[in-house]
Parts: sequence; C-alpha cells; structure tokens
Amino acid sequence: MFPNHRPRRLRRTPALRRLVSETEVRPRQLVLPMFVKEGATEPIPIASMPGVVQHTRDTLRKAAVAAVQAGVGGIMLFGVPQTRDATGSGGVDPNGVLNVSLRDLRAELGDDTVLMSDLCLDEFTDHGHCGVLDDNGNVDNDATLAIYADMALAQAEAGAQYLGPSGMMDGQVGVVREALDAAGHVDTGVLAYSVKFASAFFGPFRDAVESQLTGDRMSYQQDPANVREALRETALDLNEGADLVMVKPALAYLDVIRAVREVADVPVAAYQVSGEYAMVEAAAANGWLDRRRTVLESLLAIRRAGADVILSYWATEAAGWLDQR
Ligand code: PBG
Repeated sequence: MFPNHRPRRLRRTPALRRLVSETEVRPRQLVLPMFVKEGATEPIPIASMPGVVQHTRDTLRKAAVAAVQAGVGGIMLFGVPQTRDATGSGGVDPNGVLNVSLRDLRAELGDDTVLMSDLCLDEFTDHGHCGVLDDNGNVDNDATLAIYADMALAQAEAGAQYLGPSGMMDGQVGVVREALDAAGHVDTGVLAYSVKFASAFFGPFRDAVESQLTGDRMSYQQDPANVREALRETALDLNEGADLVMVKPALAYLDVIRAVREVADVPVAAYQVSGEYAMVEAAAANGWLDRRRTVLESLLAIRRAGADVILSYWATEAAGWLDQR
C-alpha cells in the first residue's frame, strides 16, 4: 500500500489546517510607520508608495486612532521638516515637526498604543546623511552621537515611549540609554536597529521623507552579504542596553531574522520596508499578484523566521484582515 505516509491528511479540511497551523500573525504584533510633514495642510500622497501619505498634524492623529482601533500594537513616527541644515537641528528642536507630532499623538492616544519615534538625522540634514559630516565630508560618528543624545531627550520629553536609533552609528544605543537614564527617563525604551543593511529596498522611503541624499550609506549601514557582522551588531546593542532589536529590511533577510532570534534574549522586530511595500503594490495594481494574500503571506513568513514584532505600512489594513479570520 504505497504511499504509507500521507501528509495531505493534515491538510484536507479548513478545520484540520486551522488546528495544526504553526505560526500566526496577530494585529497586536504589528507596528505602523507613519510620516508627518511640517506645514502640510492636506495629506500628500507618496508616489512610490501608493496608499501611504505624508500626513498633516491633524490627519496623523486621525490615522493613528484608526490604527489603534484596528488593534495595531504600535506606531513608529517619522518627521518631514520644511527646512534642513548641516547638523539636522530640526530633530533636536522641541518645536520641530517630529517632536510636536509626538506630543500630539501621546496626548491623543495616551498609553493605548506603544508610541515609537525614529531617532536619526537623515530627514533633518541638508546633505541627507544619518549623521553630521567632518571636514572631509565623511560621517563623523562621535559628533553625531552627541546630537543623538539631545534628540533622544527631546523625543522622550515629547512623549515617545520607545526610541528607534536608525543611523547605524557605533555606540548609538549606549549613548541614547545613558542620556535617557541621566535625565530620569528610565522607562523610555530603545528599539535598536541592530541590523540595518545598506539596502536598495529603502528606495521609496527616500521619496517619503524627500531625502536630499547624494551618494550612499555604505560606510555606516551593513553589507547585505554579511550575517556574522549582523550578530556582532546585535550583541553590541544588547550590551549597550537595547530593549528590542530589529532587522531591516525583512523579506530578503529572513535568514538574518532567524539568526538574530537564536542569539537574542529580547523581542526581535523586523521592518518590512518601503521597497517591499512598493513591489507588492505595483504588481497588485497590474493584476499580477493577489494583494491581500501576498501581504499576509509575507507577514507570516517574517513571523515564521522569528520576528515577534513587524513594522509594516500595511499594519492597519492587515489588522483588519487578520481580525476577520
Ligand atoms: C533612516 C531610515 C530609513 C528607513 C527607516 N529609517 C532610510 C535609510 O536608511 O535610508 C527606511 C524605511 C523604509 O524603507 O521603509 N532614518
């Protein structure tokens, strides 16, 4: 009687499949990244990210409430300032767009969600790098750290509960942790971008924040070829006090998520980035992919690889779909 083993017996009915399904995505595990544009009077569509906008202060509040009502677990905020300078001073300014909007969201949402803030200079510098430049035009690690410390305090004071240092400067987690503790913000957490690759998948994000970058970030973001280096970055960040560690991008780096999961004793996040979003949206708009199935399958894959938390531009919509199942 061949075959003696029939794995299909576990797949025969929806009830069987539901019973033995190994991995699940829940709305609470999703974090919605959002953009707010200084001075905007209506939401501005981002061409390379159909469905995602640069919010006004007002529409930001409303969309954030909708996300929370859909069950999304957190919000990660990015600011798009009207003016930029060499040192990114708009990021430190308590009246800068990011800090003002963090205050808005905290007032609106209180502790109903986890409010997170991008802690990086690239949106605020006129050269578009994630740090300040030295006389030779190179990103100056330690001078940048001093600014990150000030930025961390401004964001904590504005009500951010978790800070996401994403600039890939050496020592950034330690400097942020120390600055927070010294100012009494011991409850403000650090979501460390431990593993951030110099990725082509960030392309649409540069539209979203109107990046003025010329050149690339290869001297600070990681080589996509390297996984040992990713584990070293993770170990350093844990040592410096990271509360969560993150891998970014997600879908092209599932092996890295798995490897980090195996060494990290804190929750692991993964960021499904702008290029991952744009690829699916473009293919779906052409009728080449089933949008909903593709989105849910990629979220599931990222969870299966070992991510506890997923940042996704589809968070609100996906939460709605997941709730119906
Ligand atoms: C830097 C930052 C970037 C992203 C998140 N934080 C851009 C970059 O490193 O170039 C990319 C997110 C995405 O592509 O969705 N502040």
